[in-house]
Amino acid sequence: MHRRITTAGILALTTGLGACQQTTPPTTGTDLNGNGRIEPYENTALDPQARSEDLIGRLGIEQKIDLVMGTGFSNTMGGSSKVPGAAGSTAPLPDFGIPSIELTDGPAGVRINPQRDNDPNDYYATAFPIATTLASTWNPELVAAVGAAMGNEVKEYGTDILLAPGMNIQLNPRGGRNYEYLSEDPLLSGKMAAAIVKGVQSQGVGATVKHFVANNLETSRMVLNAEVDEQALREIYLRGFQIAIKESQPWAVMTSYNKLNGTYTSQDPVLLKQILRHEWGFGGLVMSDWLSGDDSVAQLQAGNDLIMPGRPENREEIIRGLADGSLTEADLDHNLRRILPTVFKAPSANGYPYTNRPELKANAATARQAAAEGVVLLKNRDATLPLKNIGKVAVFGNTSYDFISGGTGSGDVNEAYTVSLVEALASNDIAIEPGLQQQYLAYAIDAKAKQPKRTSFFQFVPPIAEMPVSPEQAAQLARSQDMALITIGRNSGEFQDRPVEGDFYLTETEQAAIATVSEAFHSAGKKVVLVLNIGNVVETRSWQDKVDAIVLPWQGGQEAGNAVVDVLTGKVNPSGRLSVTFPVRYEQIPSAETFPGEVLDPAIVQNPYFGGLPNGQRSQLQYIESIYVGYRYFDSFDQPVAFPFGFGLSYTDFAISEAGMQETAEGHFEVAVTVTNRGSVAGKQVLQLYSSAPSGKLPKAERALVAFGKTRQLAPGESQALTLSFTLADLASFDTARHQWVAEAGDYSLALAASSRDSLWQTRLVVDHETLLSPVLTALPPSTAFKVITP
Ligand code: BGC
Repeated sequence: MHRRITTAGILALTTGLGACQQTTPPTTGTDLNGNGRIEPYENTALDPQARSEDLIGRLGIEQKIDLVMGTGFSNTMGGSSKVPGAAGSTAPLPDFGIPSIELTDGPAGVRINPQRDNDPNDYYATAFPIATTLASTWNPELVAAVGAAMGNEVKEYGTDILLAPGMNIQLNPRGGRNYEYLSEDPLLSGKMAAAIVKGVQSQGVGATVKHFVANNLETSRMVLNAEVDEQALREIYLRGFQIAIKESQPWAVMTSYNKLNGTYTSQDPVLLKQILRHEWGFGGLVMSDWLSGDDSVAQLQAGNDLIMPGRPENREEIIRGLADGSLTEADLDHNLRRILPTVFKAPSANGYPYTNRPELKANAATARQAAAEGVVLLKNRDATLPLKNIGKVAVFGNTSYDFISGGTGSGDVNEAYTVSLVEALASNDIAIEPGLQQQYLAYAIDAKAKQPKRTSFFQFVPPIAEMPVSPEQAAQLARSQDMALITIGRNSGEFQDRPVEGDFYLTETEQAAIATVSEAFHSAGKKVVLVLNIGNVVETRSWQDKVDAIVLPWQGGQEAGNAVVDVLTGKVNPSGRLSVTFPVRYEQIPSAETFPGEVLDPAIVQNPYFGGLPNGQRSQLQYIESIYVGYRYFDSFDQPVAFPFGFGLSYTDFAISEAGMQETAEGHFEVAVTVTNRGSVAGKQVLQLYSSAPSGKLPKAERALVAFGKTRQLAPGESQALTLSFTLADLASFDTARHQWVAEAGDYSLALAASSRDSLWQTRLVVDHETLLSPVLTALPPSTAFKVITP
């Protein structure tokens, strides 16, 4: 197949402003200030901008200052948000009858306190699967349903804006917050974040895409300067945000903690005014991350409209700025034009009668469905799974008895329960060897008693060390039980990055347990299935051959145990695919060289918000890999991987046929293909479309994802037509010399694939002339010169 396009010149993306019409709107709304009239700002028939203008005209300078900063940390940390445990709130305007609006974390569900003083009720929220599990579904509709379920809890618990989705690129497995993020790929991140935003906002509450931008690690995050070249910024780090903002219009964007090429992102007018607002047309609210930046005046002027969580120092700085003229009232008005329309949309400002009774049951069912669909089956030797004739199982691994639902820090959720693997097995009539269970439970009680007590929200207490397994015990269990299950668990979270040894790499005890159990069970002719209950990538190559099957649910939320057993038993045929590559060794990753060492300074661990720079830490991260992040690196540099991006097995087998590509409009393409389930059980297939650009003047990755599609559940023999769309812009590279997206002339190869490393069908697209895809864009300040890697 051979398509030829001859487009030359500029395909500019312009948005036309419709002609203004002057009509007198009707007067409806609530008399918020109780003066017996509906003032323009109270008039819901007016658009939010007009209402805001009216209100701005009535506000005094003090009220304006109140509004551009939050009311402090959550009320459990000295602030005044009305919902206990919510992350913060905007200032109320009592004179005008406008309440505060409430902001709540975070990516895996609503984070509020489950208990309240003098209140017998509880306020648990649903712990949904972590973002990485959601991305692993490759199913935007399902992820939107999860977003809607989260939105239901945001709204019914009396809050207004969810501080999610998190969508930073998973640059390095050590990133402590990778679990809050979606993928190493910007297209998958952008599409999945858009799905979450659409779902959340379908409930009439807001979503916040965060952390804008290049917040890819935790160590030194409050002072870190991310040095990123312009091509990598445009193609990798900004791109996901651009997709999400364009496709889903989130109510808010949260800036990040770090500096980008020398300037705090929350103080960077190029980033916020030029790129986010002007180039991308973002019309919502920009808020800071909690306590970020070092200059409130610079934040407000840069277009970071709302300073969170808001503290006395911010007020002092603003007042000083107004006094010395570095900040004007007009600047504040500008910020208010973003804040007030959001306030007017929020349920709190519209007197929404929230129930404190979200649909917890239905939401748990949605969480279970997403957790199961996000399970990636990495290995299934001789069709070990689904389980057949298994009545009695020896269950190894501390985490099997205490599943980790999600990570720690602000992305944690206070859920009512987490279904463990053993609980779910029991409810499926699979008997767990009771002696072994007793042993693990007793070990856990003892080990937990010896752990440091968690004294603050910031403190990360790692999971207890794995219990050793003796060869004698393994041999004895291998005789009496039908098979072995082993879970390897990991946790991580905000404030700290993961260590390499004993975290990315398994501990010696874990390695020994896998070897001992596998040897014993295999000698008895029985199988071993390993479950990875992890927040991000671990090393697998050294042990993956020892076990028969590897099931990766990541941290699947409160229903994870059920979801895993749904997959083990075949109730659900796994259809998750990796959203991140599993490398062979940590040292392969380019950023292994640049990533800061482990934090040793106890003051930082106690309170990383205020700590400054840990001893001996670098305050900059040079992004030497440039655009070669994740599979773009492994594929372009011929590096071996343990499991490639996009990979995942199924209990059935799919064929594709009738694939073809056509240009549907100038620069718009569709790849149509028929997917047939040719196996014996129902299942879903994910097809990925990768482009390989011709080598030209600009650096290019070997392959880049340009589209993907997932089938519905196909019965054996059933087929479905999938259409994967992309545009010439998706094939383009960013030319930093001209500050423009450019599709260089030449042959582009497009491959339908089931991972970044295979190809099911290929076609070519010839671009005759170099094509400029955008007008000249804002030049980003250059990073300090450092050498980026090249293949
Ligand atoms: C995190 C944000 C979070 C905020 C409010 C910060 O520490 O970086 O992601 O939304 O706290 O809890």
